[in-house]
Amino acid sequence: MQIVSDIVSVRAALSPHRKQGQRIGFVPTMGALHEGHAALIRRARTDCNVVVVSIFVNPTQFGPHEDFERYPRTWEADCALCKREGVDLVFSPPAAVMYPEGYATYVTVERLSEPLCGRSRPGHFRGVATVVLKLFNIVAPDAAYFGWKDAQQLILIRRMTEDLNLPIEIVGVETVREADGLALSSRNRYLDAESRRRAPALYEALRLARQAFEQDGVADCAVLTRRICDHIDQHAGGRIDYVEIVSLDQLQPLTSIQKGNTLIALAVHLGGARLIDNIRL
Ligand code: PAJ
Repeated sequence: MQIVSDIVSVRAALSPHRKQGQRIGFVPTMGALHEGHAALIRRARTDCNVVVVSIFVNPTQFGPHEDFERYPRTWEADCALCKREGVDLVFSPPAAVMYPEGYATYVTVERLSEPLCGRSRPGHFRGVATVVLKLFNIVAPDAAYFGWKDAQQLILIRRMTEDLNLPIEIVGVETVREADGLALSSRNRYLDAESRRRAPALYEALRLARQAFEQDGVADCAVLTRRICDHIDQHAGGRIDYVEIVSLDQLQPLTSIQKGNTLIALAVHLGGARLIDNIRL
């Protein structure tokens, strides 16, 4: 496994593979790697000849009062996980390589960046789209792997890729969860013991909504949203940022479930962490 921190070295490492027509798979991350990231890497490993992982805590996607400074940085363990999963190349640039003095260009994916997490994290998806496009230009992969855990991010990156005619296949990978249902996240380590105990109630609430729709035919989004919020209030506590039922393609609010085109997404502040989760119907 090769580890590089500058752009020239990424291109030099990949150019012989590209010349041989090998398929290059790319998994962008911010490090603090866990089994969710490992699932993306494994998928890339299965689909591609060469697997590249980037590890970069991207400052432009954090708001001024967010956790950029305290975001977990676990370099040694990240490298060990990458090695174990058969990664070929790790790209871990310092901020000055990605955003040198005088940097001025940003990407906005209109509409898709506004609802859900976009409302409480203004500028977040502008930072995400910008860094992902830059990483795409540096790595020039054939395929890139993103988790459904961050559904809005995946949908927005798909849109950007199509809109800007990037010849990259965007692959979505299902959310990896703890045995009790909590979606794996680098931010779960912010949870104190009591909040960790309550956190599985978020996914429980989503599952109850799925059950209400599939088994009892409840399709009214206002009713389902209320039930999800009530379950969270009763079993998780914390402060709900949002619970929303939107279309998968446009992320626009729905009044009634559209089977095959529905995303139920939520964000909840719980014991020092802001947790997100979602299901698709
Ligand atoms: P990060 O939070 O490190 O996540 C990297 C990738 O891992 C994302 O595609 C995310 O959806 C996926 N992932 C995280 N937890 C997961 C889980 N439990 N199951 C499946 N996949 C999971 O997302 C980012 O970094 C950044 O915004 C990035 C795209 C790297 C741009 O900076």
